[in-house]
Amino acid sequence: MPPMCMYSSDESGDVKEEWHLNHYETRSVGGAGLIIVEATAVESRGRISARDLGIWDDNHIKGLSEIVKRVKRHGAAAGIQLAHAGRKCTVKHEDIIAPSPLNFDPADSAYSNPREMDEKDINYVINSFRKGARRALEAGFDIIEIHGAHGYLINEFLSPVTNRRNDASPYGGTAENRARFLLEITREVRKVWPEDKPVSLRISAKDYMEGGNEPEDLAEMINLVKNEGIDIVHVSSGGVDAKAVLHPFHGYQIPAAEIIRRETGLPVIAGGLVTDSSMAQEIIRNERADLVFLGRELLRNPYFPLQAAKELRSEINYRPVQYERAYL
Ligand SMILES: Cc1cc2nc3c(=O)[nH]c(=O)nc-3n(C[C@H](O)[C@H](O)[C@H](O)COP(=O)(O)O)c2cc1C
Repeated sequence: MPPMCMYSSDESGDVKEEWHLNHYETRSVGGAGLIIVEATAVESRGRISARDLGIWDDNHIKGLSEIVKRVKRHGAAAGIQLAHAGRKCTVKHEDIIAPSPLNFDPADSAYSNPREMDEKDINYVINSFRKGARRALEAGFDIIEIHGAHGYLINEFLSPVTNRRNDASPYGGTAENRARFLLEITREVRKVWPEDKPVSLRISAKDYMEGGNEPEDLAEMINLVKNEGIDIVHVSSGGVDAKAVLHPFHGYQIPAAEIIRRETGLPVIAGGLVTDSSMAQEIIRNERADLVFLGRELLRNPYFPLQAAKELRSEINYRPVQYERAYL
């Protein structure tokens, strides 16, 4: 299950018993192997909305550890996506920051003109990711995912559409420079996140824009960063600019995932409009990806994995004993 924002917290950023705990536990009962908790903000100005989950304060650890407990008790592994929205923060009273002072969508009043980050700001955010990782560890997560996709802050550095810093800046211009922010975040996160626990990187493999990133560009940047401790790449696409044109269809992101897998040598999580079990099986058996993610399908049908195991007549390790009679 990939991260999916529930926008069900409040200004506190806390996990809410009336929504989050049930939501995540149900998908674990349904047989998902790995559940990655939604984009969780490492700073309050890194939220997308005023209802995002947060991990910017030690007070957040308790609620997050309750999600971990409920996810793990049915056999799923628990991950969390550490995020910073950058210029896509829509909380008006926050300091909106980005690599370059470009508005995501001037026609939409939800978005503000961001302030261009200086090196002090950059270091502050890098440290916030490390602190977030330390809190995620204390909460008991098995995996953390660095959110480098969908036009949020890290993606804003990676994409030439949103990163207009010139070559004089160590963080702009060449692919190596644009990847530096991600590299430094990964290095900092690894100072507190143990070697035996994986770090996933979510990416937008395509910007769907003239002059924007393509899967080969992402592969090049991942190759520069991976040795800092990236174990798996979670391939998504888009979100970098309001002008981008994207028409999704079943499996639309799988070819990009294959390119990333081949050119980086890292395992990938692939998906995007995967809605039936044979389609998921095809992707895995043909070695197009190592894991398949199911987003909206799991929102509609939290028991999809159990149902898929029956359809494909495959054994899965987990089946709730209370539901055994459904599998006779
Ligand atoms: C309600 C909703 C919230 C989402 N929130 C996030 C998020 O927090 N982080 C992220 O990386 N992707 C997010 N996504 C994208 C999903 O992880 C996934 O990549 C996308 O829905 C495509 O996969 P699907 O067709 O299986 O749903 C979200 C998608 C939905 C539908």
